[in-house]
Amino acid sequence: VEHRPLFGKRVLVTAGPTHEAIDPVRYIANRSSGRQGFAIAAAAADLGAEVTLIAGPVHLPTPPGVLRIDVETALEMQAEVEKALPVDAAIMVAAVADWRAAQAPDQKIKKDGNAIPPLALTENPDILASLTTHKQRPKLVIGFAAETENIIAHAQAKLAKKGCDWIVANDVSGDVMGGENNAFHIVTKAGVDSWLESPKDIIARKLMEKVADELAKS
Ligand code: C5P
Repeated sequence: VEHRPLFGKRVLVTAGPTHEAIDPVRYIANRSSGRQGFAIAAAAADLGAEVTLIAGPVHLPTPPGVLRIDVETALEMQAEVEKALPVDAAIMVAAVADWRAAQAPDQKIKKDGNAIPPLALTENPDILASLTTHKQRPKLVIGFAAETENIIAHAQAKLAKKGCDWIVANDVSGDVMGGENNAFHIVTKAGVDSWLESPKDIIARKLMEKVADELAKS
């Protein structure tokens, strides 16, 4: 039990971007390698949890002992999150596209000689926010906030708005995207815990150890 403090716990992780089709060959997406989310899923499994990883389109191997479900769009991701419940903790790392095309034609939109097509958007569901008000709300719901300025203030506002327990804020003004390292500020109602920049797998392990401590409080 000592080094498997998440044994018997169910953990859900979302990771990567979503791709929202404009037509069969084009899409809208956020910039995300999926590496931090995959590292978190790997750390959770290492600590003994039963892990479901719902992954957008990424080029990463499945961490050992993790149940991985691949999705393309935000709507698919939301449906798979629902199916994975109940869980003890949900860590929502995915960079979900805020909008999708209002209509995605079945055929490629042709450019030859035609006017520039308008791109009408419609809003995607906020998967994190809907989880915090769900009948089967996990005991611990953790959101991520990638910010380039006023990191802590934005994270505190997001914590309240989304109704989650913790926001992990990270500064993406440097080369965090797709990079090796990350620095976290763990923002809760009780305060802020700032962790030094570390490799993504090391900081993932530290986060999951904190999750284990929290779940052990019962
Ligand atoms: O609102 P914002 O996109 O900055 O919030 C980021 C957090 O919300 C992340 O944890 C992300 O995974 C989650 N999110 C979500 N569904 C969305 C948008 C964001 O789960 N449609």
